[in-house]
Amino acid sequence: MSGDSLTRRKHCGPPEFDLTAEAFARQDEDDDAVFYATERFVNHLDSLALDTVERVIGELVIEDDPVILDLMTGADSHIPSQLKPVKVVGLGLNEKELSQNKALTEFVIHDLNKCPTLPFPDNTFDAVINTVSVDYLTQPVEVFKEVGRILKPGGLFLIIFSNRMFMPKVVKVWREALEERRVDIVKWWLTRSQEFEMPDVFVSRGKPRPADDKYAGLGLPSDPVYVVYTDKKGAAETKKARPEINLEYGRRLGPEELQRLQKEIKHTLSCPHCGQKMRKWEVPDTPFGCNWDHEFMYICFNDACPYFVRGWEVMQQNGVGGKSYRLMWHPVRDYCVPVPVPSFHALKESIID
Ligand SMILES: C[S@@+](CC[C@H](N)C(=O)[O-])C[C@H]1O[C@@H](n2cnc3c(N)ncnc32)[C@H](O)[C@@H]1O
Repeated sequence: MSGDSLTRRKHCGPPEFDLTAEAFARQDEDDDAVFYATERFVNHLDSLALDTVERVIGELVIEDDPVILDLMTGADSHIPSQLKPVKVVGLGLNEKELSQNKALTEFVIHDLNKCPTLPFPDNTFDAVINTVSVDYLTQPVEVFKEVGRILKPGGLFLIIFSNRMFMPKVVKVWREALEERRVDIVKWWLTRSQEFEMPDVFVSRGKPRPADDKYAGLGLPSDPVYVVYTDKKGAAETKKARPEINLEYGRRLGPEELQRLQKEIKHTLSCPHCGQKMRKWEVPDTPFGCNWDHEFMYICFNDACPYFVRGWEVMQQNGVGGKSYRLMWHPVRDYCVPVPVPSFHALKESIID
């Protein structure tokens, strides 16, 4: 398997999830207005993840002079500077945050859990963006139906989330789901709203945490960014298709360069993708008859290696969420293979150099 050559797959037919009131129970059922009365001028994600959010919005909002709704917004709408919307409306719960959000041209205070009906006319917006907030909706299908009503035909609904949250306000079905399954939850809610085309998914995860972050040095990756996006049904036939999100991480080697660097491993012991020294790794001694034909291999354990970083998305797009792979070199047979890993830490316990 050559991970880098695998292509993105359109996701279809989401599994079904519980839509009863029980699935949307929260640990804190008090009025949301009370919880959000305190303004929180904080970054909800690390700087690299926030940069990804901006770039995703910049790539996907392709309409000229767009009118945008930032649904469930706070102090930042993550609109990149090259995007020039004619109007950005914010809807959220904290007036101070909204009034200091520089991207907004207007805002409205509105509790979606009390009233999922959106206070806007039909066919108003070119794009509705919802960032790191969808997990707080107690009636997501009703809200998504409303998003369908207020979007123009062919308009973009862009839902972005990560794995950080204000836990007491998160609905049960989300709290109890594995991180990767939450993509399916959002797709299911979209399906049930019946307003949208088949959604697309983009995942950015497994990147090294920025050095300036308060959690840097703890062995944690950068906050993951999950993106589920779709268009409202009924677009004009002449409408431009949205591009696939393409946020390259690191330099991609051409086949000849890769082949040359792989041939040199026996002299350099360096990973062709990042140049860092590969580590001597003892193969596992298991009773399951695994076919290791040599007692040690060499593996690139650089967490910032582009091969490893890009692997998270490649695996996700090919139906294996929550895994990446590292480059392994066989020192006797002199070939490279990807070895799948479920975390940054996996396999490191057997490094023996
Ligand atoms: C984690 S913050 C994210 C803010 C912003 N979207 C961002 O990316 O920085 C969650 C936001 O959801 C909004 N929110 C939470 N519950 C809400 C509700 N019931 N109705 C409307 N907005 C709500 C809050 O106002 C808050 O700004």
